[in-house]
Amino acid sequence: MRVFVLTGAGVSAESGLGTFRDPGGIWERFDPMKLATPEAFAADPERVHDFYNMRRRDLLASRPNAAHEALAGLEAGLAARGGRLWLCTQNIDDLHERAGSAFVHHMHGELLKARCTACGAVHAWREDLALATPCPGCGRSGGMRPDVVWFGEMPVGLEAIEDAIAESDLFVAIGTSGSVWPAAGFVEIARGCGVRTAELNLEPSDNARMFDERRYGKASDVVPAFVDGIMSGSV
Ligand code: OAD
Repeated sequence: MRVFVLTGAGVSAESGLGTFRDPGGIWERFDPMKLATPEAFAADPERVHDFYNMRRRDLLASRPNAAHEALAGLEAGLAARGGRLWLCTQNIDDLHERAGSAFVHHMHGELLKARCTACGAVHAWREDLALATPCPGCGRSGGMRPDVVWFGEMPVGLEAIEDAIAESDLFVAIGTSGSVWPAAGFVEIARGCGVRTAELNLEPSDNARMFDERRYGKASDVVPAFVDGIMSGSV
């Protein structure tokens, strides 16, 4: 079986990383237009750095949960049977990797990487960033930014994502509100290709009616149960 999984902030919620649009979520406390756009970075880079520095520190203090672990197990289990898991995440955290997933496509980039806008080099990054931070490659300062995708920027690898969806038997969206494009449109692509679709979320997402199957509850409960279903052939 070839499975495509799209994860969102809900899969990392029980690891202590906030979601965006739930009550008290990140975009209720912070203005995305002042923190997650190229224009915001140009206008006030230190403010943007402070926001991502805070999120990087939270990430480094967090751990994967049972949902991340179940998806790592699904990848290994499918591969052992000649299938595959294509794991696409909107999350900029590394919790899938830390749980043991070997292949993770970060369509919105990665918080533990920094990019130099002067030379283009991308570096693994765990420390705070500041305007004065020099690029470890070219030595210039003033151009280091988190290697994440901001509003108004192109998500990573859209063509590869669409190909992988089309070549799947099952599309599963986990912990995403279905309100941010283009990820919100992936379920429609799957349906158009005749791929079976399932949603696992705390509550029905904006796209709920598009899915053939729906399971609601905490990711740490519903994801391991759904993975068991796939491996036992009942899903
Ligand atoms: P959202 O915050 O929009 O949605 C999170 C979803 O997870 C909601 O539908 C919640 O009901 C659900 N949820 C919350 N806790 C859960 C739990 N314990 N188990 C299962 N589900 C749970 O986050 P995303 O859909 O990931 O982009 O947001 C998409 C993009 O919008 C993000 O990648 C980010 C944001 O702006 C950028 O910053 C570019």
